[in-house]
Amino acid sequence: MIQEGTRSSTEAVATLPRLRELLDAATVAAGRAQARYSGYPVGAAILDAWGVIHAGCNVESAAFAATICAERGAVAAAVAGGAGGLIACVTVTRDGDPASCCGACRQLLAEFGHGLLIVNGSLTSDRLRWGTVADWLPHGFTRASLEGIPAPAGSQG
Ligand code: THU
Repeated sequence: MIQEGTRSSTEAVATLPRLRELLDAATVAAGRAQARYSGYPVGAAILDAWGVIHAGCNVESAAFAATICAERGAVAAAVAGGAGGLIACVTVTRDGDPASCCGACRQLLAEFGHGLLIVNGSLTSDRLRWGTVADWLPHGFTRASLEGIPAPAGSQG
């Protein structure tokens, strides 16, 4: 398991050879973010098991709760694009330290396996935050939690 922490660029590329490409795709997506309320654009790039990269960006709403984060946008794009499994999710923010994925995004990413690699970068920081879903969401409630639970009587399953 990759432990949460920061990585030098050499270590980073050794672990995830397509990191540069993923950071570039996330940066392009961040440039397309609709972040007019927070002023905090985020881009995400997901590498799937076929080697395809799927991008997402945050899309904010005047009804704030309807806002979608970059990571969940990228997950939706990956699923709609026919991704086999998800290998890594790389995010880029414009300012400050790399943004850590919010709880809702961790929960959705956990759907695709505890080993999924999460990397957070920022255009103004040379540090990358690394970890797996298992690091990001310890003791998470996932589909495994529902295994073996009998369906309620009369449910469609
Ligand atoms: N946001 C993301 O898209 N991903 C993150 O990892 C952190 C936060 C977005 C949500 C909102 O549009 C803005 O950043 C400020 O919270």
